[in-house]
Amino acid sequence: MTRAHWGSRLGFILASAGSAIGLGAVWKFPYVTGNNGGGAFLLIYLAISLTLGLALMVAEMALGRSAGEDAVGTFRDLKGGAWPIAGYAAVLTCFLILSFYCTVGGWTVAYFAKAVDGNVLAPEADLATEFGNFIADPKEPLIYLAVFSLITLFIVIGGVREGIEKLSKYFMPVMFVLMLVLIGRSLTLPGALSGLKYFLYPDFSKVGTRMVLDALGLSFFSLSLGAGMMITYGSYVAKEVNLFRSSLWVIALALGMSFLSGLIVLPAVFAFGFDPQSGPGLTFVTMPAVFVQMPGGAFFAVLFFALLVLAALTSSVSLLEVIVCFLIDELKLSRAAAATGTTLLFMVLGVAVSWSFGIWKDVTLFGKTIFECLDFLTVNMLMPCIELSVALFAGWAVWQKVEKELTLNSVNPHWIRFIKFLIRYLAPALIVAILVSGLLPDE
Ligand code: TRP
Repeated sequence: MTRAHWGSRLGFILASAGSAIGLGAVWKFPYVTGNNGGGAFLLIYLAISLTLGLALMVAEMALGRSAGEDAVGTFRDLKGGAWPIAGYAAVLTCFLILSFYCTVGGWTVAYFAKAVDGNVLAPEADLATEFGNFIADPKEPLIYLAVFSLITLFIVIGGVREGIEKLSKYFMPVMFVLMLVLIGRSLTLPGALSGLKYFLYPDFSKVGTRMVLDALGLSFFSLSLGAGMMITYGSYVAKEVNLFRSSLWVIALALGMSFLSGLIVLPAVFAFGFDPQSGPGLTFVTMPAVFVQMPGGAFFAVLFFALLVLAALTSSVSLLEVIVCFLIDELKLSRAAAATGTTLLFMVLGVAVSWSFGIWKDVTLFGKTIFECLDFLTVNMLMPCIELSVALFAGWAVWQKVEKELTLNSVNPHWIRFIKFLIRYLAPALIVAILVSGLLPDE
């Protein structure tokens, strides 16, 4: 059987960008930026994404294309030894991320449905109670979790070209248009300027080690690095496609979309005098509260939640594809069997995650709920370890093979040397720093 391939370079770039642009970009980025000193954080975030992020993305794609295999097979065929452990860790990471991604993805579907029905709008206090009750309910979120997971499954069964690539090609432009419409609304609200200032004004007094490490972690997560994703997508790329230029495109799109989300969320929040609080609260409580007061709010609420559903979906399919690709290549399962089996399994874990916001709130390990454990284990432990392995593997163990993939596309030798320096020295040093800081208690 010949290996699946992307239909076009554009399809590959949009699918990778679709994976990168997800819940991380839409809700986490605006808040973390504002909280960390606005423009100053933004500059550092940009610098990190365009150097280390770029180098690691090129490395992952080059490894995948060189081997033409899944994440495990890539490490095994290029070098062997103990390296495939990093591949297994990547497949496991994707599985664990999926279990909470489908829970939160389910919430976005639920809120989209509510917005269409027109009952997402209420005063903030009611919204907070309602959101709290909704996620703590033992049954209702599970329906949406199932809907979100089954849509993901359906697209992945469709395959690389007919499923994932088509989804990205049609819906990435839709997402972009939705964003522009929402920004137009947000920036023309009276009082929007203070939000803009919170987001962009560079407060250099907040620059410090902690902030640089936060930027590093957020940048890698929102570029989908460190879980075998770009290895997997890279294994479907034709040899003619310039990996360096494609990575630049993916990063530019991902950074652009994160920036645009900041322009939607923060001006609107400030215009109505709300607190730019963190995480789920901002997305599911503050934004609906903002829509209540906004002229045409009911309509913009539908657009906003549609945007979230699409962003989450193009990311969840990429996570599932890493596992499915592994099962097809290594265990010779059929795509349909691999995808269906995996989905059933992560949904079961997803139920536990969902309940950890309600009836299982008190089930804890080291004081963390099931959701918090999984989040910590993947984002703070597994992903940095895998990134470190990728950097050492691509930079030292099989550098010649990575270099060959780049010379094949006639990438300028200066750039190749730049990438080599970054993945050999700078990336390992900084990733070790994130790992250590993740283990230290928050000050
Ligand atoms: N980048 C996505 C986001 O920002 C999450 C994601 C999708 C991801 N696929 C990944 C993270 C693979 C790490 C690895 O929401």
